[in-house]
Amino acid sequence: MSTKDVYILAIESSCDDTSAAVLQNGKVLSNVIANQKIHEAYGGVVPELASRAHQQNIVPVVHQALAVANIDKKQLNAIAFTRGPGLMGSLLVGTSFAKSLALGLNIPLIEVNHMQAHILAHFIEDEAQTIPKFPFLAMTISGGHTQIVVVKDHFDMEVIGETIDDAVGEAYDKSGKILGLPYPAGPIIDKLANEGNPKAFQFPKPKVEGLNFSFSGLKTAILYFIQKQTNANPNFIEENLQDICASIQHTIVNIILDKLKKASKQTGIKTIAIGGGVSANSAIRKALKDGEKKYGWTAHIPKFAYTTDNAAMIGIVGYLKYLKEDFTNEAVTANSRFKF
Ligand code: KG4
Ligand code: ZN
Repeated sequence: MSTKDVYILAIESSCDDTSAAVLQNGKVLSNVIANQKIHEAYGGVVPELASRAHQQNIVPVVHQALAVANIDKKQLNAIAFTRGPGLMGSLLVGTSFAKSLALGLNIPLIEVNHMQAHILAHFIEDEAQTIPKFPFLAMTISGGHTQIVVVKDHFDMEVIGETIDDAVGEAYDKSGKILGLPYPAGPIIDKLANEGNPKAFQFPKPKVEGLNFSFSGLKTAILYFIQKQTNANPNFIEENLQDICASIQHTIVNIILDKLKKASKQTGIKTIAIGGGVSANSAIRKALKDGEKKYGWTAHIPKFAYTTDNAAMIGIVGYLKYLKEDFTNEAVTANSRFKF
């Protein structure tokens, strides 16, 4: 262990996963995630239940992260936490815990923007991923957000396009609900789509100007389509599930790709990195890789463990801020609409 080593404990609690990670410089020593199963029964995240589950999970998750990393809390140099955006009750748990622990250990506290963390997850040193060169285009696609961001430097980012209604993950989850699939439906649709015909059914693509996205029209179109078909044949969904999923996935990936191509053309930037839960999607990953040959892109696709919400991505932002001594005052409060 070098005396220059920096150990960061990171805490993520913005939505329905409680996570803690320990980083040694840019490397992840542990990344523990407690998923909250309780929401499955409701078909979506129930904020009040999420914050209560965070309260139960946070202490054991932090203990486990330290134990797996084999690091004593006295060795920590700083605590990084998600300040926002996210669910207020959930953010409050992580924020309060991080503040108290930093105060107790008398070490710096570092606030992290969750969306910035999905982007900077690419800077985690891990042989499964490559670090993008500046400037690059980042597309963050998750259950709560859909953004295209120009990244000029670690902390010099500009949002050039975003959804005007549902996020892409929401489009997956709501489509899944219509099909009777459990929450979160994104990974299930992705799996079923790989066994179906993407051209079996046609769904309309939204007409949104510029680089913004819209997904609520697609959800409505799927709802009306399914209602019409099941009226004629009550077994329509089970007889065509793979084809329906493949067609939905095909439409969503096309919408995303069209905007990315436009953004790349408009900015002249060909280095593209994706982040957020939906970047685990197999068709999106493939489309990006294919873009390397088709459009001359350099595509950066994160390791699976760093796509859905996790504290390792909070930790890398914590480390980068630590190097700049960009610390947070202990009077800081959670911010559900935190912008960067
Ligand atoms: O980033 P994340 O864990 O949480 C938010 O910040 O929202 O993203 C969760 C979202 C959910 O909507 C989930 O359905 C979606 O990511 N997701 C996927 C896949 N894996 C997770 N969507 C499509 N295909 C996947 N393979
Ligand atoms: Zn997220």
